Amino acid sequence: MQSNHLKGLVETALPAIAAADAASLEELRVSLLGKNGNVTLLLKSLGGMDAEARKTAGAEINHAKMQITDALSARRAVLDSQALEQKLAAERIDVTQPPRPDSAGALHPLSRTQEELAAIFAAMGFAIAEGPDIESDWNNFSALNIPSHHPARAMMDTFYLTGDQVLRTHTSPVQIRTMLEWAKTEGLGESPAPIRIIVPGRTFRADHDATHSPMFHQCEGLVIGQGITLGHLKGCLIDFLRAYFGLPELPVRLRSSYFPFTEPSMEVDIGWNRKTGELGGGTDWLEIGGSGMVHPNVLANCGIDPRRFQGFAFGMGLERITMLKHGIADLRLFYESDVRWLRHYGASPLTPASLHEGL
Ligand code: PHE
Repeated sequence: MQSNHLKGLVETALPAIAAADAASLEELRVSLLGKNGNVTLLLKSLGGMDAEARKTAGAEINHAKMQITDALSARRAVLDSQALEQKLAAERIDVTQPPRPDSAGALHPLSRTQEELAAIFAAMGFAIAEGPDIESDWNNFSALNIPSHHPARAMMDTFYLTGDQVLRTHTSPVQIRTMLEWAKTEGLGESPAPIRIIVPGRTFRADHDATHSPMFHQCEGLVIGQGITLGHLKGCLIDFLRAYFGLPELPVRLRSSYFPFTEPSMEVDIGWNRKTGELGGGTDWLEIGGSGMVHPNVLANCGIDPRRFQGFAFGMGLERITMLKHGIADLRLFYESDVRWLRHYGASPLTPASLHEGL
């Protein structure tokens, strides 16, 4: 009788336990094994039995109790691990980076050229200097030894603004700005650190055709120090041009010329084949910029003693050297914002210009 009751109890309890959720599992535990639980009461009833009956019944009830206890803890383990998994899934965070976009946009070829110049000249110890697009007449012309009556002003016809201001016709006024600043600080010292800058930036002239635009870009270079010679200028330009065009044998020629702010002055030519457009080969020369030793008047205008300091400067058109490097025929394409053109000539912004990897 008793053992039938026990059997029935276990047979109902086990499947109920196996199907219980966390709350009903606790209820089941209390109703079976709690203070007044069915199994507990049965155990208590052992006290009123005679020794023989208690032995058999005791073993049966304990066996049943063990089955129920095992089932309870097995179910609890399952519920616990389910709860943990749910929690982990709910708290999941993605620590990976999204993949890099590979076709979304490109760097404009002129921006790329500026980055390449920065990389090459940085390796030679040059810093980058900048100046405003709107300049004083003095910085753009007079301080550079171009007085108001000088014909060089007509060659660089520009946009005159009110109050003696112009849109700068070249990046050379940043020479003036840099030297003025240097003369006030470094240039007064016993052994001053030299000026070594490049100045990439926008420039303006009243010109417009297939090879000229009213807005274009130049890059200036300026070195001021003690014992600076024309040999340094030449070596610097040759190293730069060969690195930029990736042609270790590129012929470079300095050709005598005239600029009011340099003395002596030289045009910078590189060797090419006029018919095929191939750089480095052939017997023709192509002018890509101007250069020279900084004129003593310019140094003096900036408060630098020309007997103590010398230097060289150069300037070149960024569109020009970019067109040559990439075989771009018409300068106007740089400013048309044609996405197909940009996609073709643009550079990947994710692979910055670096001398180590090649430009
Ligand atoms: N500023 C000159 C130009 O625009 C180029 C140049 C720069 C020449 C520095 C000599 C030295 O034509």
